[in-house]
Amino acid sequence: MRTPIIAGNWKMNKTPAEAETFANEIKDALNAIEGVDIAFCPPAIAIPAVAAAVAGTKIGVGAQNMYFEEKGAYTGELAPNMITPFCQYVILGHSERRGYFGETDEGVNKKIKAALAHGLTPIVCVGESLEQNEAGETHAFVSGQVKAAFDGLTAAQMAQCVIAYEPIWAIGTGKSATAEQAGEIIGKTVRGTVVAMFGDETAQAVRIQYGGSANEKNIAEYMKQPDIDGALVGGASLKPVFIELVQNAI
Ligand code: PGA
Repeated sequence: MRTPIIAGNWKMNKTPAEAETFANEIKDALNAIEGVDIAFCPPAIAIPAVAAAVAGTKIGVGAQNMYFEEKGAYTGELAPNMITPFCQYVILGHSERRGYFGETDEGVNKKIKAALAHGLTPIVCVGESLEQNEAGETHAFVSGQVKAAFDGLTAAQMAQCVIAYEPIWAIGTGKSATAEQAGEIIGKTVRGTVVAMFGDETAQAVRIQYGGSANEKNIAEYMKQPDIDGALVGGASLKPVFIELVQNAI
């Protein structure tokens, strides 16, 4: 059985002080919820404060991005060993990183390998645009992203990764994919591609989240889908209602 994982992607919201206050406000209620892994992914500058706030609880901390090199002349970037003292997770290849900051499949693949080499659990985002969805290209595109992201990993490394399927048209729009749509793409396309690459046993170990306007009201429907193992949550992770969302997920 895969333990579900709900991660809050706070994106570019909350100053370090606000992030610390919010983590302190919701951590005890979340810590009491059993049967689910939970992570907060604050802006990079708030990571140390949030990690200190949740120390001693079951709540993990994730970065929203990371570079693959160890150190050097990469202005503005964070190396893996700069986040490992605070983080267990790192979100990689989010569609906002791909869309606004030019991240490529090749770069995401390098980052995944670097994260795994440093003992971090990558939360790897894939998902199609509205145009691709409407053109019937979802399967081919998402399958291609999965293949490119995990190219060259060992089966053991693959099993440690988390994948977030986030249809771009559902992110921050309030227009979520139906649970059936998401369950089918996650099962056939995302897990199916991992089966083709690494075999069934490995693929069954990989946790795959849904992301895109997940909230406290719709989360239970997603979780009923056998291939959906949790959610990557943006907007609904920024307020105390996140507690209700996690409660409703299990
Ligand atoms: P959303 O964001 O829940 O606000 O749609 C999800 C994400 O981008 O991770």
